[in-house]
Amino acid sequence: MAAKNILVTGGTGYIGSHTVLQLLQEGFRVVAVDSLYNSSEVAINRVAELAGDAKKNLVFEQVDLRDREALNKVFASTKFDAVIHFAGLKAVGESVQRPLLYYNNNLIGTITLLEVMAAHGCKNFIFSSSATVYGWPKQVPCTEEFPLSAANVYGRTKLIIEDMCRDIHKSDSDWNIIFLRYFNPVGAHPSGEIGEDPRGIPNNLMPFVQQVAVGRRPALTVYGSDYSTKDGTGVRDYIHILDLADGHLAALKKLFQDKSIGCEVYNLGTGKGTSVLEMVAAFEKASGKKIPLIMADRRPGDAEIVYASTEKAEQELNWRAKYGIEEMCRDQWNWASKNPYGYEAAESES
Ligand code: NAD
Ligand code: UD1
Repeated sequence: MAAKNILVTGGTGYIGSHTVLQLLQEGFRVVAVDSLYNSSEVAINRVAELAGDAKKNLVFEQVDLRDREALNKVFASTKFDAVIHFAGLKAVGESVQRPLLYYNNNLIGTITLLEVMAAHGCKNFIFSSSATVYGWPKQVPCTEEFPLSAANVYGRTKLIIEDMCRDIHKSDSDWNIIFLRYFNPVGAHPSGEIGEDPRGIPNNLMPFVQQVAVGRRPALTVYGSDYSTKDGTGVRDYIHILDLADGHLAALKKLFQDKSIGCEVYNLGTGKGTSVLEMVAAFEKASGKKIPLIMADRRPGDAEIVYASTEKAEQELNWRAKYGIEEMCRDQWNWASKNPYGYEAAESES
């Protein structure tokens, strides 16, 4: 059977790069597109190196999804069996300060992509949604049936895109669509060659912890220690990036096997809640570094406890997370200690 062609948007980003590598290792042919707005081409070059012989099945194109002409060219050169759509902006605080940037990039980028897909007869679509669509859940674990709400502009772009896809499927049942609602992806590929490299001051917990560990920042500010949780700090469902990438392979398999899947949604999480202090302790153990803490007020907009129900993905995708926080911290530290400034050093060499 001929290898299937997959278009990966946002392919040089954190989740995209790890997923592209796994796709190549599983025998898929991949075209990765990215505007490089929030990522480095070094990431995709490293993916190619890690893929060994399979690198012949990888093409990278620098394309902004809103550039319809460029996107049309990509679709004209390859007949895609499916698209995995990671490309988007994701900084919550920035989305509130610059809403038009987020609506423009995330919505127009996605609409253009869906239109070009339809024009070229490719109607298999996997979309990166987020646990943020559960807003402030009243109970845990979060099941896929929970009511949805947008806590910020970023979250609203996810909700709008989910709604848009549901409408597209209603109007044309040829579309097969899966939304994957990610919980908190952390860690890196065990080689330490690819990992998360946020631009500017990290918003998320583990990239910040990592930068403290390598000496780029003096201390971690812990946002809130008076929550009704085991130690008073916020609880989240951290998932190893390898498990998350693997979830996309499982979703792709489902799309190809179940032609009448329609428009479906799956949580990708571990089903376990870990507090900020537990995560810091695990990282200190993995790295042998002390992470100085500053206890502070709650971060506005934060939920107290969020973790996933993983039952649906286990039953229908035959997927479950394999790794725990020890492996997440070990692999994140391996990446951080080898690349304390992310891809920057490699960028300046090239
Ligand atoms: P990332 O920023 O590392 O990757 C996203 C990539 O998309 C970047 O490389 C960026 O340059 C690219 N991009 C943005 N706009 C584009 C456009 N118009 N055209 C082409 N490329 C564009 O982020 P990530 O963590 O890999 O996230 C991937 C997806 O998963 C995003 O949609 C994000 O919202 C979603 N998500 C991420 C998390 C998380 O914690 N990392 C959690 C839930 C959902
Ligand atoms: C954040 C986003 C959410 C997004 C998710 C995954 C906000 C309000 N929400 O959620 O939309 O889907 O990332 O990308 O930004 N923490 C600290 N100190 C820090 C950073 C975080 O104590 O410097 C705490 C937070 O209060 C929280 C936990 O660590 O309890 C995890 O935070 P974070 O990594 O930002 O993820 P989320 O809050 O789940």
